[in-house]
Amino acid sequence: MIILGIETSCDETSAALLEDGVRILSNVVASQVEMHAKWGGVVPEAAARMHVERMNPVIQQALDEAGMTFDDVDAIAVTNRPGLVGALVVGVAAAKTLALALQKPLIGVHHLEGHMYSARLVDPELEFPYLCLIVSGGHTELMLVKGHGDYYLLGQSMDDAAGEAFDKSARLLGLGYPGGPKVDAAAKQGNPNAIPFPRAWMDGTLNFSFSGLKSAVLRYVDTQGKALNVNDTAASFQEAVVEVLVTKTITAARQVKVKTITVVGGVAANSRLNEAMSTAAKDTGFRLVIPPSILCTDNAAMVACAGYYRLQKGERSDLELDTLATADL
Ligand code: KG4
Ligand code: ZN
Repeated sequence: MIILGIETSCDETSAALLEDGVRILSNVVASQVEMHAKWGGVVPEAAARMHVERMNPVIQQALDEAGMTFDDVDAIAVTNRPGLVGALVVGVAAAKTLALALQKPLIGVHHLEGHMYSARLVDPELEFPYLCLIVSGGHTELMLVKGHGDYYLLGQSMDDAAGEAFDKSARLLGLGYPGGPKVDAAAKQGNPNAIPFPRAWMDGTLNFSFSGLKSAVLRYVDTQGKALNVNDTAASFQEAVVEVLVTKTITAARQVKVKTITVVGGVAANSRLNEAMSTAAKDTGFRLVIPPSILCTDNAAMVACAGYYRLQKGERSDLELDTLATADL
């Protein structure tokens, strides 16, 4: 079964071809980073327009790289929620058009479910139940995954998402956009113990809070003025985020008694989070799955994978499929 996946929820135009749910034949990601960098962040209207320009060439490239034509496609999976509505509409319109023209099934996918399935792309045999830490630009969630489409939310951020904290702190440090990778790189040159930034432990819960940390970075930057050591500040900020994410994830895994932990979403590409989570998992005896960077950040292969398992259950979307800015999983 060949699934064409389409993802346009934010600033990457992506199309992928996936065989039997887990084998990636192609996964083309056209990033808009350079354009949005000029404005210091994602401009929704510009993102939508660029998706329109790139959607067809990206789909064609995904077919070419897989050595296929539209005739080989058995179903189409597309992110329809949550995200920038103007951006989502482009991918959803393309997916509906293809479903109608090719007379093939269409399935709308929740973006976070897509992220969760990125772990299955690297470990197709991933056994339930397992724990999933989702860390993206818009979400920080600890999820118990009991089966396909069967999730229990254990904890989440009460304010900023982890990725948002990275992006906002990067701006405060003058590192620009995209914040996460810039902080990651700067932190490699800095001392993670230089500044004792606060950790919000949210005692007794598996929830997170990162807005206090962001404010602490803002205050610190103000007090330092020209003497600011950007690399030390980036490293100390990153360490505060990573320590909380790792500690809470291990606590959650113990509580729900799973064997495996997965970490997905853009922030899962962070090198220090990867390193610290790997060490902690090894020390505590949990198996850890963190996808490679290209599958952590937004991509259509993960969307096709999530769509595959929904289609297997007999689910279908019709041509009325809507786009939503916010949506529960
Ligand atoms: O999953 P994603 O690509 O899009 C959303 O669904 O939001 O995540 C994007 C987020 C951004 O906040 C970005 O700064 C962050 O992931 N990110 C990183 C790294 N790469 C991307 N954060 C920290 N370190 C990285 N290397
Ligand atoms: Zn995402």
